[in-house]
Amino acid sequence: ESGLLKDIIAHAKEYGFVYPSSEIYDGLQAVYDYGPYGVELKNNLKRLWWESMTRLNGNIVGLDAAIFMHPTTWKASGHVDSFNDPMVDNKDSKKRYRADVLIEEKAAGYENEGNQEKADSLLASMGRLLEAEDFTALRELLIEEDIKCPVSGTTNWTEIRQFNLMFSTQVGSVSEDSSTIYLRPETAQGIFVNFLNVQKTARMKVPFGIAQIGKAFRNEIVARQFIFRMREFEQMEMQFFVRPGTELEWYKHWADTRMSWHKALGIPEENLRRHDHEKLAHYANAALDIEYKFPFGFKEVEGIHSRTDFDLKAHQEFSKKKQQYFDPEVNKNYIPYVVETSIGADRLFLMTLCNAFTTQEVEGKSRAYLALHPALAPVKAAILPLTKKDGLPDKGKAIFDQLKYDFNIIYEEAGSIGKRYTRQDLIGTPFCIAVDHQTLEDDTVTIRHRDTTEQERVPIADLHGRLATACSF
Ligand code: GAP
Repeated sequence: ESGLLKDIIAHAKEYGFVYPSSEIYDGLQAVYDYGPYGVELKNNLKRLWWESMTRLNGNIVGLDAAIFMHPTTWKASGHVDSFNDPMVDNKDSKKRYRADVLIEEKAAGYENEGNQEKADSLLASMGRLLEAEDFTALRELLIEEDIKCPVSGTTNWTEIRQFNLMFSTQVGSVSEDSSTIYLRPETAQGIFVNFLNVQKTARMKVPFGIAQIGKAFRNEIVARQFIFRMREFEQMEMQFFVRPGTELEWYKHWADTRMSWHKALGIPEENLRRHDHEKLAHYANAALDIEYKFPFGFKEVEGIHSRTDFDLKAHQEFSKKKQQYFDPEVNKNYIPYVVETSIGADRLFLMTLCNAFTTQEVEGKSRAYLALHPALAPVKAAILPLTKKDGLPDKGKAIFDQLKYDFNIIYEEAGSIGKRYTRQDLIGTPFCIAVDHQTLEDDTVTIRHRDTTEQERVPIADLHGRLATACSF
């Protein structure tokens, strides 16, 4: 892991954003817990996504489907048969890898050396072999390309096997009536199977969308890069149902809209890029990723897929229940086409954290802070009485009580004011409100701004309005 990523991981742990799961037992690989500031930041991101999907679009409604679904769902969706990754072990280190990831890393190396042609040709060969499921040739490619195990440094690879990423468990208390069910590997199928329920009960007309936020589970072979690739994670997906033939217009609309959303969050344009897929999954007729420049390179944050009628058609076939919509405008029944936007809440969180993490040299000393937009910051303001005497704490608590109903703020009176400022910088609090002796005389306070450390004198009566303006997008 790069130095910068290591610093971000350490910061996230030390300042209450993200902890390794069950850390007292040495953690569980690729599973993480969100601490007090992490959960606030994540909730802010989820709320923002939810509101920009449902509230800003009159034709998108929400859903919260269960994690467990009828097992046939995953037969119909293709996950039982083909939600696989090519797994390979190194015989010397006994470490397990994804063959495709090893090859992609090699190709990224060629790209960094400026050898784009070689990178493209390697990825194209891999694509062909994966499609043909020719794992013998894929293993040969690993050896030919001299791709070494990062631990043992050898090319002593086992056969490559397909590994299904779905977690399974049993429902039913006695073995005779128990059956295998899966933890959902994507939230999308909960939307597809509820398509008609939602359409009818919310009286939706095509084109319309269903948005959902929820946990998904994948038994990832390679679990690295902190919360980038987890075994338990959260997805925010929106399926947009459209008239067949109009899907590519809607695909363009959602690709543009989602890219603008990331920019509006404050992600600089040069750290975002669009990656159009040349090789398409069997269900898609167009697909792209929105990528962010993480400390470990440009990687996918969100996928936009034109999924055709693949899913609804499959559910119609497996359930024997019609999945059609009657379109009064064209006087026809049809299975709608679907354009999907799918983003991981944890990846969005990681992108936000990487983007906000700032270190500066100030007068020979290094200063770190999280430059989070106030709307995203876990804590909007800290109320800090300068001393613990002379009635300043009471005044500070009165300000806290005025603001606490509308903003997540904290009150803190212990420690030097400088140390209290630093602590707020580290968790990304945009405003520190200092209460001093002048406050008792004229009902004004000092606001100290996180990014510039500049201070200004403001009437207490203006604080609510100031915070409200700063904390909206
Ligand atoms: N329904 C489409 C779908 O699930 P995907 O590209 O497999 O598509 C969508 O996943 C998004 O979910 C990704 O762009 C990523 O943000 C997030 N995601 C996928 N696997 C993840 C994992 N193991 N850990 C964290 N986020 C993940």
